[in-house]
Amino acid sequence: MRSNKVARSRRDFLRSSAATLAAGAFPAFPVSLFATNEKFANNSFTNPGKPHRIILDTDPGVDDAIAIFLALRSPELHVEALTPVCGNVPLSLTLPNALRLVEIAGRTDIPVAAGAATPLVRRLVTAKYAHGNNGLGGVDFPEPKLKPVSETATELIRRIVRANPGEISIVAIGPLTNVATVLKSDPTIAPLIKSIIIMGGSFSGGNITPAAEFNFYVDPEAARIVFDSGVPLTMVGLDVTRKVIIRDEQVRALEAAQNPVSQAAGKILRANLDRLTKTGNANGFAMHDPLTVAQLIDPSVVTLKDFFVEIETTGELTAGQSLGYAHGPVRRSAPLETGLPPGDSPEPEFKPNAKVAIEVDPDKFFRLLLARLTSAA
Ligand code: BDR
Ligand code: CA
Repeated sequence: MRSNKVARSRRDFLRSSAATLAAGAFPAFPVSLFATNEKFANNSFTNPGKPHRIILDTDPGVDDAIAIFLALRSPELHVEALTPVCGNVPLSLTLPNALRLVEIAGRTDIPVAAGAATPLVRRLVTAKYAHGNNGLGGVDFPEPKLKPVSETATELIRRIVRANPGEISIVAIGPLTNVATVLKSDPTIAPLIKSIIIMGGSFSGGNITPAAEFNFYVDPEAARIVFDSGVPLTMVGLDVTRKVIIRDEQVRALEAAQNPVSQAAGKILRANLDRLTKTGNANGFAMHDPLTVAQLIDPSVVTLKDFFVEIETTGELTAGQSLGYAHGPVRRSAPLETGLPPGDSPEPEFKPNAKVAIEVDPDKFFRLLLARLTSAA
């Protein structure tokens, strides 16, 4: 069932954007990561007449919650399913959190299927320090009435993609375990997936180790499978998401709006900011996942550039690091004396495997986010 109403919501969006802008709730300047005059290919996924059909793979998670709300309240997107995965907190919490969030948004028509409870080959490391013990900043929402569907996340993603070849994108805002499991369990499915839009990675240092961003750190092997898959990829990493820090006046704007989504978003963000302040971690909370969703709704929120991205999986200190080549050749570390001599074959040519966000307009992003969450349903 498609309940989004494109024309009406666009009008509401413009109206409430102007109001929120007038209230002065936004940062002022676009942020550029790389000084360059190269021409950037921008994201051209959004077709104005036709919603972009997505499966949202997520580990809610405070910023996941806001991203889910944004997706569910945006007529440019049609959310086909939610597939929770372990990450910020264990699956035993991300699954009920996902069910709660669709209930709050009044979108119980959307199937929610349980995903992976552990990364592919590693023990789970969570980010409770950032998202609270329950993943929603410590806010106690009632137990969800909605139940997950009987299929697993992998089964559901495969079924939806196979029934709609070339139509479905996966928006992955948690560790990539579910997505990698789909690709591994169904080796001919990759060409049927329209695109995978990923929150993860960084070319400018990590947020859980000096090298790795959290989602790739939790399951580097899964990230590698996805980057090797040949599916068109968009990577929205810390290079841009660190520039969209939610501020107190923006939380106040959410608290002031009288709709269940805005109220819930305000509660979660307020509780999390208070919690982080108490624990001495008040460096601001980045809207990583909402930015990833937002750039699908309005591609001009970020600038994308072609890269060949590889994921480090073996480093003792660097597993989950993402490395991007903007032009060839792609070189590996020099061979050890005790190993095989390097082959004579030339280095492979530069061939991008992902569009990577390198620049962001935080003002535009927050205008979009607040307008969508605060407007009447
Ligand atoms: C990513 O890790 C999680 O903690 C957030 O939800 C986001 O997906 C940022 O590194
Ligand atoms: Ca997440």
